[in-house]
Amino acid sequence: MKGLLLAGGHGTRLRPLTFTGNKHMIPVANQPILFYGLRHLAEAGIRDVAIVLGPIREGIQERIGDGGAFGLRVTYIEQGPPRGLADAVRCAREFLAEDPFVMYLGDNLLQQGVRPFRELYERDRPDAVVGATRVADPRRYGVVELDGNRILSLEEKPAVPRSPFALIGVYLFSPSIHPIIERLTPSRRGELEITEAIWNLHRAGHRIDVQRVEGWWKDTGLPEDLLEANERVLQSMPPGQFERQGTVAPGAAVTGSVGIGADTKVAAGCSLEGPIVTGRGVAIAGGARIGPFSALGDGVAVVGAAIERSIVLEGARIEGPIRLRDSIVGRSVTIRAGPGAPRDLSLVVGDAARIEL
Ligand code: G1P
Repeated sequence: MKGLLLAGGHGTRLRPLTFTGNKHMIPVANQPILFYGLRHLAEAGIRDVAIVLGPIREGIQERIGDGGAFGLRVTYIEQGPPRGLADAVRCAREFLAEDPFVMYLGDNLLQQGVRPFRELYERDRPDAVVGATRVADPRRYGVVELDGNRILSLEEKPAVPRSPFALIGVYLFSPSIHPIIERLTPSRRGELEITEAIWNLHRAGHRIDVQRVEGWWKDTGLPEDLLEANERVLQSMPPGQFERQGTVAPGAAVTGSVGIGADTKVAAGCSLEGPIVTGRGVAIAGGARIGPFSALGDGVAVVGAAIERSIVLEGARIEGPIRLRDSIVGRSVTIRAGPGAPRDLSLVVGDAARIEL
């Protein structure tokens, strides 16, 4: 079995989340989102993975290389003009050969991983396995209408959804998907739609198993989705994964699961309430308070400020008497609050911005 990881802008519509570099490399609990997909593929016993590169690609090859660090053999495929998810499969045709494969959309986070998909496939040998889960707003997704486990209809981003079940961005296909994709024509939004390919596979009499997804799933398309993913990942990380390196001064209060990276310094009078992860070389000083569900990247400094349920990327500096909640702060941002600054703020700030309050 092979893996196909889609990593950046394969459709015609570029997502709004481009405020801080490549959205697939934005860290959740201090790990780029794409790494979760790679680990899930490796955990399912898959060794050969192709990453399909779209137009948004910076940082991917540099960080992942040949995939050895993940126990994988990773190759890269260029999609060319972004013509949709099914087109990305078409581009990988030679790599996939006649093997079954798991296709993983790189901006998805899935608590259960992909192993249950593989197990279902090995047991029943269907032509495809898709995952479905109940969502609040199905219009954002591919929607599957079910009668028990029987598929009644499949539609991509319908204006009037027939069911509350979204297709998640993880799929398993047998090679019978390829001739179906060859016959697809562009949709209204000008893309070769994977949802339409699955529907056509079903209509051609092939067997599609629907896996009801247990646990949480997130398509990290919007800043709020990222914050929620960050919260869920931190919440479900086993205590052993929060490594304590760096130094915590006597007189600093650290409670709950808190990961402290190498060369990080927590000064006296500061408090950290987990779950939290901090990277390397982080400085927490001046009575700063870091609250639950926060992730601070390498080289971040928080001086005298409070941070809660936020993602702060590498090299950002937050200083002064403010409380940031539900915020995403880009790389190398400086936020400096004076005495008259508002106390409570929720911000989404792109890389390298300077904010004086
Ligand atoms: C894609 C698929 C959609 C699926 C979603 C899951 O949408 O086209 O069917 O529900 O991923 O993340 P996109 O996020 O590319 O708009």
